[in-house]
Amino acid sequence: MQFFLDTGHVEEIKQALEWGILDGVTTNPSLISKTGRPFLDVAKEILQLVDGPVSLETVSRDAEGMVKEGKMLAELGDNVVVKIPMTPEGMKAVQILESEGIPTNVTLVFSPTQALIAAKAGASFVSPFVGRVDDVSNDGMKLIREIKQIFDNYEIDTEIIVASVRHPMHVVEAALIGADICTMPFEVLKRLFQHPLTDKGIELFLKDWEKVPGKPF
Ligand code: G3P
Repeated sequence: MQFFLDTGHVEEIKQALEWGILDGVTTNPSLISKTGRPFLDVAKEILQLVDGPVSLETVSRDAEGMVKEGKMLAELGDNVVVKIPMTPEGMKAVQILESEGIPTNVTLVFSPTQALIAAKAGASFVSPFVGRVDDVSNDGMKLIREIKQIFDNYEIDTEIIVASVRHPMHVVEAALIGADICTMPFEVLKRLFQHPLTDKGIELFLKDWEKVPGKPF
C-alpha cells in the first residue's frame, strides 16, 4: 500500500521523504489555507520535492471552470493529479481531463455508487473519506471494503485512496482490505512508528551495551 501525506506543509513532506516512506501527496483548499501561504508557492514547492502523484484541487462548481483550472494545475508539473469533487459537473470534467491525458482524483466520495460513477467516468483515483463517515456514526472502513469488492468484481483499475484518515487503525484496516493508497495527516504517519516495546527494548539494549568491555563505538 502506498503512503501519501494529506498536507500542505512542506516541512512535513521533507521529513517523510527523509524517512523514505512517502509515495505521494494530497491537498485540498482547507489544508492549503492552514499553511497561510500563497497557493502557487506551496504547490510548486511540493511538486519540486515529490516524484509521486500530487493532488491539487479545483474549486469551480461547473465543468467548464474545473477543466480550465485543471489544465492550469496540470501545467505546474508532470506529477499533478487534478482533484475534482464528486458531482455530475465534476464527472464531465473528469472525462474531459482524462481524455487529454490529465489524471484526476475524485474527492468527497461517501458511497460505493459514487466511487463506481467516478471509475466509470474514467477517474485515475477515487478518494472515499473514512473519518468523516465515522464522524456521522457510520462505518468508514465498510465503505472501503465495498468499493474494493466492486472494483475487483469488474477489474476496474481506478486506484482507491483511503482519505480522511484519523488514526493508525484506519491505516492498518486500509492495508488489510488491500486499498491502493492511504493518505494521512503527518501526525498519523508519525504514530505508525510508535510502539512502547520498541522504546523499552532500545533502553534495555543501550543499558546492557554499557556493560560490554572494549566497545568499538
Ligand atoms: O484530503 C481529503 C481528506 O483527507 C480530508 O480529511 O480530516 O478533513 O476529513 P478530513
